[in-house]
Amino acid sequence: MQDSAYLKCIDPKCGLEYPINSVVVECEKGHLLDVKYKNKQPVNLKETFLKRRNPEGSIFNESGVWRFRELLNFCQIDTEDLEECSKYLVSLDGSEGRQSKPYHMSKAAEFVGLNSGNLWFQPEGYNPSGSFKDNGMASAVTHAKLVNAKKIVCASTGNTSASAGMFAANEGIECDVYIPKGQIAPGKLSQAYQFGAQIIEVEGNFDDALSQSLEDAKNSSGYTVNSINPFRIEGQKTIPFRALEYLEWDAPDWIVYPGGALGNTSSCGKAIMELYEWGWIKKIPRIAVINAEGASTLSDLYNGKFNGEELRWNNGNPNVELIEEYYSDLDKKGIRPKTKATAIQIGRPANILKGLRALDFTDGVATTVSDSEMLDGMSVIGLNGFDCEMASGASPAGVKKLIKEEIIKKDDIVVGILTGRQKDAMLPVDYHNNPQNRFANPPKK
Ligand code: F0G
Repeated sequence: MQDSAYLKCIDPKCGLEYPINSVVVECEKGHLLDVKYKNKQPVNLKETFLKRRNPEGSIFNESGVWRFRELLNFCQIDTEDLEECSKYLVSLDGSEGRQSKPYHMSKAAEFVGLNSGNLWFQPEGYNPSGSFKDNGMASAVTHAKLVNAKKIVCASTGNTSASAGMFAANEGIECDVYIPKGQIAPGKLSQAYQFGAQIIEVEGNFDDALSQSLEDAKNSSGYTVNSINPFRIEGQKTIPFRALEYLEWDAPDWIVYPGGALGNTSSCGKAIMELYEWGWIKKIPRIAVINAEGASTLSDLYNGKFNGEELRWNNGNPNVELIEEYYSDLDKKGIRPKTKATAIQIGRPANILKGLRALDFTDGVATTVSDSEMLDGMSVIGLNGFDCEMASGASPAGVKKLIKEEIIKKDDIVVGILTGRQKDAMLPVDYHNNPQNRFANPPKK
């Protein structure tokens, strides 16, 4: 039973494999890992997934993650046996992913310059801890339990720690979170405290917090739940699954994400590769990754803005020296990632190689938007009755920019992912009190 799923190094020259119950986030040579499945999943499961939208009393059907459990069955269980599901699958009473699906938003469509019928936004902020992280945390903590981990560990710009803390509290396991001191939104920090996580404040930025947390996890048998953990990626595949299901598996032209550590880009890429290989979709949607201007590693490297070379996956032989040179150059010049959208204030995206693979497979693009563009994006989503945080504003802002540059065409079908809910209460208050801002609605005196 233990061998229809396994772990495999993403570097084709290395290709090391590990059993599914290994506690490794990287291969022994330090490369990222994929969860691989030996069996193709049949297309007629689409009907099963649809039927489960009437959950008939099962939280594993209610869950927007586990509703698709056959497509992430790394526990290798009988997915129809609900008792077996409840022995293995971690769920917050079916709430992860449950409320998330794509919506048309007319004011946002007007803002970006598309017909409302061509544009969808999927609010992942309506997850139980308020961000898309719950999709991947449900699956990562499922694996943590499978290997009897007593403590989960993460570094975070806030949402990962909120999600990890929530699931850890619910499952009765310990949770350590490493945060860049003073650089995360108060609403996120308070969640980690509230859920009883142990907070470790790191002097430095997210990249520093991540390296310290990985080091400490090794020394204290902690189980890392950052997105370099391949089981996080499995749960996050359900974000595009839900979008595709609502579009009747007729793939859009574009799926647009804000880019930070590139876990989402990686998971969307893996989802699309698997669905295409298994014959579930006929067309490959293009992924657009939107970085903040002040934290633009992927966009800089992908678009040849550093040393002139356009960094590519290159059949599994990306120019990793170029990435290292870019990082040393940032260090030498004392440049630190800087944006008010602290969720994506990341200089060293840990999943960059999987991100490149995703862009390669989907003919993707990467670009940047400014803080003020993200704030406008965030605000126009609000005017449609949905609430999202500043980093999520990168999705509408990025679509608008790519349309202006005629990379996204006027009749393309576009799905933008809104990654998290507003947890930085003063951002919209400040935005609306400044009449210069495009959507500002200042108070009457
Ligand atoms: N949007 C939000 C709201 C986020 O919290 C994050 C990442 C991203 C986008 C970027 O996603 O890393 O998959 O490219 N937040 C992480 C955290 C790093 O610690 O909460 P990515």
